[in-house]
Amino acid sequence: MSHSTRPATEFTPSGQLQLGVFFQGVNSGTVWKAAESGSQTDFESFRRIAQTAERGLFAAFFLGEGLRLREHLGRPHALDVAGRPDAQTALAALAAVTTNIGLVATQNTTYNDPADLAHRLSTLDLLSSGRAAWNIVTTDNAWTGANFRRGGYLDHADRYTHAEAFVETAKRIWDAWDEDAIATSASSARWSAEGAARRVRHNGRHYTVDVVPRLPRSAQYRPVLFQAGDSPEGRDFAARQADVIFSAHPQLDDALDFRRDIVERTLRAGRGANDVKIMPASEFILAATPQEALEKKAWVRSLQIGPQQAIAYLEQFWGRELQGYDPDGPLPDIDPVVEETSETRGSGFHGAKARQLADQWRAEAKEKGLSIRQFVSAKTSRGDSTFTGSYTEVADRLAEYARTGAVDGFNISPWLIPTGLDDIVNHLVPELQERGVYPTQYAGSTLRENLGLAAPVRADAGNEPGPVTSLDKGSVTGSVTSPATA
Ligand SMILES: Cc1cc2nc3c(=O)[nH]c(=O)nc-3n(C[C@H](O)[C@H](O)[C@H](O)COP(=O)(O)O)c2cc1C
Repeated sequence: MSHSTRPATEFTPSGQLQLGVFFQGVNSGTVWKAAESGSQTDFESFRRIAQTAERGLFAAFFLGEGLRLREHLGRPHALDVAGRPDAQTALAALAAVTTNIGLVATQNTTYNDPADLAHRLSTLDLLSSGRAAWNIVTTDNAWTGANFRRGGYLDHADRYTHAEAFVETAKRIWDAWDEDAIATSASSARWSAEGAARRVRHNGRHYTVDVVPRLPRSAQYRPVLFQAGDSPEGRDFAARQADVIFSAHPQLDDALDFRRDIVERTLRAGRGANDVKIMPASEFILAATPQEALEKKAWVRSLQIGPQQAIAYLEQFWGRELQGYDPDGPLPDIDPVVEETSETRGSGFHGAKARQLADQWRAEAKEKGLSIRQFVSAKTSRGDSTFTGSYTEVADRLAEYARTGAVDGFNISPWLIPTGLDDIVNHLVPELQERGVYPTQYAGSTLRENLGLAAPVRADAGNEPGPVTSLDKGSVTGSVTSPATA
């Protein structure tokens, strides 16, 4: 195998931004008590928001995944917005009413099987003419494990070795068909070229599969790979495998640090400095004037963190009922129940660190003179006011992100469904276009083209040609995707 160009070792900012919309489903940031709040499950909500995003030339429409309703003190979490249709089913329906926008399904590697998931994602990719993506997550709570026959909860380190074997296997399945496998002429003797669809065998620690893949390549070769997960293992995994990181670092300084870290990891993985794009999760609160935007933010926050939500938030860390405490009073003086706050119950839980955290928070709230509600509102605020402001203010700030190359775009979580993108598309997008940092048309017809990603290098490159692709027993590292070339 040979590459015509060597991967770039210096990161070069593109000066451009892309937008995605993250329709979250279950979450605590979507305002459901406003008069304009719509359904989280009606197809009309999905259609409305996806078509608005497409009107605004958004690159991607994202769906999150949570395979079980969140729990709170052993009960379903009644304060969360609840409603999350299966991502691939919803995206398949959206494929029929959209033309250009990418369709990103968050799917975990812990409870799926690679041959099955690769097939379903290929199906979405073919149905949408090359617009599918997979947001790879590992899922970090024990409730989800309880949904499955296998049950249990994988340790953090195991989740990523498992994910790596999973993604390697999926890539091989997608790469098992040659590009010109299918006859293009009715006069051909065969429907598919002999040997063009190969068998994939993998026999490793996590999986043993023997697959004859059922589908040919899509218009974008194979689904685009996003990754969400922030630990060092998660970042290295993304640097080896992903096209785009759905990050948790929207603030400029933090985003720049994250970019530097990812570039280093990507180079260490033998890929180019620009090969992995970064799109942080973010919330935009916009209005015509700065003053109106601040008032709007205060209103949104009051609905996101009402008195009950504030108490419930602390209960996650205290592992006990705190309903007797006044949301407008000081933080609880009783200690957390450590056994009830294990991190196996989700990222909000801190286990043995709960007591230390409670002491720290009590001291902080006291020093700043904050009530429970004010403290929780400050703690859960998605960063400072970077994305709160007038359309022109926020457009200026975003132009700075484009100039520095801190991110390649943002994955916006609308706080209102289904009209939460209207002001962004109607007012912010034109401001960004005027500043020359946002597309004025879709670059192509596939998600890969629209994100400016190079064609992927075959994951079986370097293998002996022949009818079967296989991994060595127990090995997943010998087949890491080679650097993409421009
Ligand atoms: C921005 C972001 C979005 C995520 N979205 C999901 C999701 O929709 N579903 C899910 O099960 N996990 C989601 N995760 C969780 C990760 O897949 C992972 O399990 C978790 O972050 C723990 O791994 P880590 O220690 O590497 O961060 C998300 C993580 C991040 C940072």
